[in-house]
Amino acid sequence: MREAIRNVHTCGNGPFTKKCHSLLEQTLGVPKVLLTTSCTHALEMAALLLDIQAGDEVILPSFTFVSTANAFVLHGARPVFCDIRPDTLNLDESKLQPLITRRTKAIVPVHYAGISCEMEAILKIATAHGIPVVEDNAHGLFGKYKGKYLGTFGCLATQSFHETKNFNCGEGGALLINDPQYIERAEIIHEKGTNRSRFFRGQVDKYTWVDIGSSYLPSDMLAAYLLAQLEVHERIQAKRRQIWEYYHQHLQSWANEQGVRFPVVPAHCEQAYHMFYLLMPSLEQRQALIEHLKTQDIISVFHYLPLHLSRMGKKFGGREGDCPVTEDVSDRLLRLPFYNDLSEADLARVVTAICKF
Ligand SMILES: Cc1ncc(COP(=O)(O)O)c(C=O)c1O
Repeated sequence: MREAIRNVHTCGNGPFTKKCHSLLEQTLGVPKVLLTTSCTHALEMAALLLDIQAGDEVILPSFTFVSTANAFVLHGARPVFCDIRPDTLNLDESKLQPLITRRTKAIVPVHYAGISCEMEAILKIATAHGIPVVEDNAHGLFGKYKGKYLGTFGCLATQSFHETKNFNCGEGGALLINDPQYIERAEIIHEKGTNRSRFFRGQVDKYTWVDIGSSYLPSDMLAAYLLAQLEVHERIQAKRRQIWEYYHQHLQSWANEQGVRFPVVPAHCEQAYHMFYLLMPSLEQRQALIEHLKTQDIISVFHYLPLHLSRMGKKFGGREGDCPVTEDVSDRLLRLPFYNDLSEADLARVVTAICKF
């Protein structure tokens, strides 16, 4: 970050941003990556690139963060909520087909907890109807499905570098562009609707307003902060794997006794080690465990409330019973402390406290 300041290039698309772009492009094998100010903004760019208009429909899981829906709703789309699979808690591909209409303009699967959706089945349905897929990969950087990195399946994919993610710069994100037809327009939208990127590459002799767009570039200081982590991504992921496996191993017999379920990682998925959650037998037990841990200064948290039952979701016609798996899981899921420098002593303390419950 000091170097970014010394470079006197602290605004967006500077040398550190470019290094983040090429590191991600080369590691993941993605034709074009653009850092953004958040995953929310990367999703908004996806909505602009897909030319989402009033009356269009976008299919997404109800069990996700509000931005997966809002980025498209902002442009007039109606979110169509799909339920999730009971095992991975990802969009249930077997429920996708009946939700498709002639107005469907995008399908947005979310790789929950960095464990992949069933991409083959989702892409098969999407391709058959000519519908673009945007992967919301906020949790899943460096996770894989059948040996291929998450974020490389949809025509577009989005990452989050929010404070809560495996790699972070406070607030940040990225748009991954797998279909080259979107690259030129994405660069323009990213740079306030101008052809500034082409100008800096010497492809035009001045830059000007050529399309709609906004300011989606993070500062190069934030890119420097992020690059330092991306450069040691294998070390960070190895540490997170240790944390995940520690919970898995040391809570196993307690979970079996209590009827508590762990995350399911199918054999063909390499997860991104983003979170470790418990599926408690009931809402009451989940709340009681949160309180129990709180008395020992341990913070554990629930996760998404079903979007279809939110105030906004109901405006779009969401009703109780529409997504039964989402409604059930949302009540029972509990996330355990999970961050890069979580020490073994603290992990042991969390495990001991849980086993006393
Ligand atoms: C699935 C999912 N998508 C999108 C986002 C939004 O990310 P950001 O905070 O980077 O905008 C989040 C945030 O946690 C998320 O969980």
